[in-house]
Amino acid sequence: MQNSESVVTPWEVRGEIDYDELIRQFGVEPLTEDLIVKLERHAGFRHILLRRGMFFAHREFGDWMKSYENGVKATLYTGRGPSGNTHLGHLIPWIFTKYLQDAFDADLYFQLTDDEKYLFNQDLTTEEIAKYTQENILDIIAVGFKPKKTKIFTNLTNSRPLYNIAVKVAKHVTFSTAKATFGFSDSSNIGMIFFPAMQAAPCFLPQYLEGKDSHVLIPCAIDQDPYWRISRDVAPKLGYRKTAGIFSKFIPGLGAGGKMSASMPETAIFLSDTVEQATKKVKNAFTGGQPTIKEQKEKGGDPDACVVYAYLFSLFDEDDASVAETCRACKSGERMCGTCKNRLAEKVAAFLEEHQEKREKAKDIVEDFMLKE
Ligand code: TRP
Repeated sequence: MQNSESVVTPWEVRGEIDYDELIRQFGVEPLTEDLIVKLERHAGFRHILLRRGMFFAHREFGDWMKSYENGVKATLYTGRGPSGNTHLGHLIPWIFTKYLQDAFDADLYFQLTDDEKYLFNQDLTTEEIAKYTQENILDIIAVGFKPKKTKIFTNLTNSRPLYNIAVKVAKHVTFSTAKATFGFSDSSNIGMIFFPAMQAAPCFLPQYLEGKDSHVLIPCAIDQDPYWRISRDVAPKLGYRKTAGIFSKFIPGLGAGGKMSASMPETAIFLSDTVEQATKKVKNAFTGGQPTIKEQKEKGGDPDACVVYAYLFSLFDEDDASVAETCRACKSGERMCGTCKNRLAEKVAAFLEEHQEKREKAKDIVEDFMLKE
């Protein structure tokens, strides 16, 4: 998607994003209350990421649940480009993927696109990417996926099945489609142009490896949708089911404007940050507060413009009454920004401590999670 202020592509997310507009431009469906009720019935509870609208759009999610109800194997596919350390923004689709895995007892295929990050990034060496890949895998495992049902793989080390599928995908995608979908140009390297076939390949990997029917759902941030348009076009030509998708918004960075990005480390909370580092970032975050306490008391703050509120709302404050009260007290000028920052800093600290503990434990069980071809 592109208009004068905002850009959403798999490589760049910038500006103020209008998610309704994005739904129209990408041709995805809004996630309706009916679907949420149905999902809640399977899961046993309504996840905070649903309650607060972080997951907002889908493709054929209802059909995917129907397949499950009809006894078709439910499978999930998601992924990560290992170009750096993991931050909170990356974790949102993974946390939701775990919720789906538990709800549907689903197999999960988790791709690490080490090839992508080499091809698309000027500065990273294959060695650096291999290091991030190993580091990122620990964060993935720490989310709590089921070891027996989770298969993590990387494009460079598991290339045999992936490449076999990717050539079949690639044969049905013209350069002109790739250019129109991804914006490639004459100066793009030829690896970049082939890469979409590698990201589409896992859509069909479960059926390819297991030789039986399964319906794949992709939980991910909405910027990845162009890949799924390609894979859905090609699926019937290869005799596979089309993948369904369920899509999240982006969590903002702690600064003013834009999604959380590893290229702006001061505004991103990395899962490897110490509690002190993360606390400092939260304390420096952009808020919807007034420049002075006096003005804040008189005019009140603006939660809609506040990153600290966005974090409490989207992820960290599970209690509906408490977020509603935060919103009210902010607008009325009763609450100062320091109170919210402290609250968020405490939540983030607790989260990081727990994650880092799980991440340590993950080191001993990596092999249990890696795809055995
Ligand atoms: N391209 C994604 C990234 O850069 C990584 C990825 C691969 C992915 N397969 C995926 C993301 C499937 C979501 C779902 O981060």
